[in-house]
Amino acid sequence: MEKGKGKAGTARTGRPTGGADRSAFAGRVDWLGDGMRFTNQVAVITGASSGIGWALAKELAAQGARVGLIARRRDRLEALAAEIAKSGGTAALATADVSDRTQTLAAVAEVRDRLGPVDLLVANAGMGTPTALDPPNVPEVETMFRVNVLGMIYSIEAVLPEMLRRGRGHVAAVSSLAAYKGLPGESAYCASKAAINAYLEGLRIQLRRRNIAVTTICPGFVRTPMTDAFPFRPPWLMEADAAARRIAKALARRRKVYNFPLRTTLLVKLTRWLPDWLVGKVMGKYDAKPAAKP
Ligand SMILES: NC(=O)c1ccc[n+]([C@@H]2O[C@H](COP(=O)([O-])OP(=O)(O)OC[C@H]3O[C@@H](n4cnc5c(N)ncnc54)[C@H](OP(=O)(O)O)[C@@H]3O)[C@@H](O)[C@H]2O)c1
Repeated sequence: MEKGKGKAGTARTGRPTGGADRSAFAGRVDWLGDGMRFTNQVAVITGASSGIGWALAKELAAQGARVGLIARRRDRLEALAAEIAKSGGTAALATADVSDRTQTLAAVAEVRDRLGPVDLLVANAGMGTPTALDPPNVPEVETMFRVNVLGMIYSIEAVLPEMLRRGRGHVAAVSSLAAYKGLPGESAYCASKAAINAYLEGLRIQLRRRNIAVTTICPGFVRTPMTDAFPFRPPWLMEADAAARRIAKALARRRKVYNFPLRTTLLVKLTRWLPDWLVGKVMGKYDAKPAAKP
């Protein structure tokens, strides 16, 4: 793990792909139909070194955003920045462990200095660890809460004051459909994601007259290193690129809450109505040997 404030890097190859200035439409529904929904916007993505964050950073850059990339692994961020630059986009990077408030504030400030004021934050960095009973794995659970919950709060802290001063902005976080149901063996992960949903819900209401949108993104299963670690094939597994396209569309529409895909959403909502004994029975095998989950 890289500790301390990382040195920022920038990859620029002139203007982002797409050419024409569509700034008047940036962040709105894609009326233009040309896929350049984020032209002239600065988007910061945490957890950009892998999986959903990596794919989303590429997607937002392809749609015209100048992207700020944050995670702990510098080599991965540099590889992504190079890919984005090769495609004609603009990226800046900085390393941080988002569970560390000082590092997170410094990293966001570094990419902001290179790219300009942040229009869109996607707090995506996250981890999953099973919840053990005997002995209880409290230290691991504490780390997960620091990354998933406090990491999001620190990331928002890093951008919100300037958004308030500018009178515009968009804050989003990648939560999970796991936020909607406490699952055996995953109590802590589900609780961390439920905390994200509740935090963003309150924030959205508080910001309703400040022209700052808040979006809660709840994916089902997406193929990433996180799901690669599962001992089973998750149902309705999506590719990260496909998930990123959907998330980008939801962000452009400034959706309040975006649950996807529909089938997994319905399944999770259904489990809320099922008796505990049935959920326990279905998840019995998993409960006995849980793995890190999305
Ligand atoms: N995959 C799924 O099925 C799924 C479903 C629902 C929700 N999610 C959520 O989606 C988000 C992304 O997950 P993923 O599936 O794309 O997993 P992933 O491929 O493992 O990516 C996790 C990202 O988070 C970063 N990260 C982890 N701990 C960090 C820390 N302490 N500080 C800074 N960055 C940190 C990692 O970067 P470094 O290691 O370089 O720091 C990496 O870029 C997570 O919040 C996850 O809970 C995933």
